[in-house]
Amino acid sequence: MAEDSLITVRELKVSFQTDEGVIKAVDNVSFDIKPGETLGVVGESGCGKSVTSLTIMNMLPKPAGKIDNGSIIFSTSNGDSIDITKLDPRSREMRSLRGSEISMIFQEPMSSLTPVYTIGRQIVESLLMEEEMTKEIAREKALEMLELVGIVPAEQRFREYPHQFSGGMRQRAMIAMALCRSPRLLIADEPTTALDVTIEAQILDLLKDMKDRLKMALMIITHDLGVIGEMADRVVVMYMGKIVERASCVDIFYRAAHPYTKGLLQSIPVIGRKERLHTIKGSVPGQFELPEGCLFHPRCPKAFDKCLAQEPPEFRVGEDHGAKCWLYEKVGEMR
Ligand SMILES: Nc1ncnc2c1ncn2[C@@H]1O[C@H](COP(=O)(O)OP(=O)(O)OP(=O)(O)O)[C@@H](O)[C@H]1O
Ligand code: SF4
Ligand SMILES: [Mg+2]
Repeated sequence: MAEDSLITVRELKVSFQTDEGVIKAVDNVSFDIKPGETLGVVGESGCGKSVTSLTIMNMLPKPAGKIDNGSIIFSTSNGDSIDITKLDPRSREMRSLRGSEISMIFQEPMSSLTPVYTIGRQIVESLLMEEEMTKEIAREKALEMLELVGIVPAEQRFREYPHQFSGGMRQRAMIAMALCRSPRLLIADEPTTALDVTIEAQILDLLKDMKDRLKMALMIITHDLGVIGEMADRVVVMYMGKIVERASCVDIFYRAAHPYTKGLLQSIPVIGRKERLHTIKGSVPGQFELPEGCLFHPRCPKAFDKCLAQEPPEFRVGEDHGAKCWLYEKVGEMR
């Protein structure tokens, strides 16, 4: 595994068996996250962001979802290196990793909060399920966590049900639940998509604050480059199950190399800019009509002959900066 990495994902391939055929949801994905670092994962709908994170949590929907290749090595707080792909999802080892080492805020908060139990009970139960502690201590921890994420007065809100919470408050409750066992890696899958901009800013601030307090690493998944710019140290850009560019956040914004990343950047609205917003032409091809060669070629303004025939490998385009694009064959070395 990569030196001083908290998590090392290598050559990960995940597919789904459906009635129409096999969907390659994640195709040969590799990345690392270091302790305390924020990795941003960005890409259009369906590019494999959630499936990558569910695979790290060992929560792929079964039997349809399958890991076809690769490893996910997690370095635990007691110094062990565990390959998550080798663990049974229901094993004791995996359950103890989930929550205390890696935790996740799911894309749809209502799907992870049960409507029939109070918020307090749900946090207490998630604590009691995995750790040996008395109910009183779990209750105190839950109250402390609610206070920390700004759900106040905690005593009163502890007794309320999810439907009594606004969207922003539900998202805070999800964060409280994900963080109550002080994980070292938090995966936040589109944590602000359903929220208006003011609440979005508050939730992003809360995530930054909690990350600093708990000294944890964050993998933030979004289709919004604005969120990436606000939060990430390093970024991977995904397109149709593959990572097409990886770089520091600064390089992504100022020296983007891949035509897809450039297209995404040009579609961000800029205050005061009068010209029409650029959108990437065409749409993502269907899973069963994958193009030959570079998967982006039908939409790429720079495509040339080779792109239609051969899939590009990742070329090094700068310090810690790679792009899967034939344009860099001459200038970059293959990684
Ligand atoms: N349970 C499933 N069964 C079959 N296919 C699935 C399943 N879950 C995901 N997929 C497929 O895997 C691919 C990747 O999906 P994923 O949910 O990871 O996308 P995403 O990048 O998270 O998109 P979004 O931005 O819309 O959340 C898609 O083609 C999707 O249709
Ligand atoms: S390989 Fe070719 S089609 Fe693909 S992104 Fe690069 S220039 Fe465009
Ligand atoms: Mg998703």
